[in-house]
Amino acid sequence: MAAFTVRPAIPDDGSFLADMVVEAANWRSGGTRPRPTVLADPASRVYVAGWQRPADRGVVALDGDGRPVGAAWYRLFAADAAAHGFVAVGVPELIIGVRPLWRAQGVGRVLMQSLAETARAAGFARLALSVEHGNFAESLYRSEGFVVVGSGSGRDTMVRSLG
Ligand SMILES: CC(C)(COP(=O)(O)OP(=O)(O)OC[C@H]1O[C@@H](n2cnc3c(N)ncnc32)[C@H](O)[C@@H]1OP(=O)(O)O)[C@@H](O)C(=O)NCCC(=O)NCCS
Repeated sequence: MAAFTVRPAIPDDGSFLADMVVEAANWRSGGTRPRPTVLADPASRVYVAGWQRPADRGVVALDGDGRPVGAAWYRLFAADAAAHGFVAVGVPELIIGVRPLWRAQGVGRVLMQSLAETARAAGFARLALSVEHGNFAESLYRSEGFVVVGSGSGRDTMVRSLG
């Protein structure tokens, strides 16, 4: 397994987090939605627009040269500006992506665990996320304690307790 480190996300990470939103939108092998197309879609842009807002928190995985290779972060949404994984006001939604060359080497799981710890320390009781049907990431989420609380439009909404 290649060595990586994890640090908190900072305001300058906005462009990298946008890259990870593009990876998440293209999770199907061969997915080729170009970056500008993905980021012009309000359903995707909402996860990174204006990064880093006061309540936004994230973690970034770095390779041995300090280059970002993956990130997980959360963001709060209002009920009238809900994203795919919205369950309630005050329950932040998690987004995650890892660069293709770095997948299946444990980065995603470490990022999930680190972000859960960050959310717990910030006082949140739950984390939510949205995953499209067929994405193996759902089994990663289940193994990290997320359970499906709703389904629709080809997606599952999942929540984990941080208690
Ligand atoms: C989903 C994603 C973030 C997971 O990160 P990762 O670094 O690849 O995950 P890990 O290496 O920590 O693996 C986590 C688990 O998933 C399994 N896994 C990894 N890649 C897999 C694959 N292609 N198919 C099936 N299972 C896989 C691993 O075996 C591991 O389980 P284990 O610990 O029991 O062995 C990453 O693959 C990714 O960015 N995918 C594309 C974007 C995406 O789908 N984002 C999520 C949108 S909801």
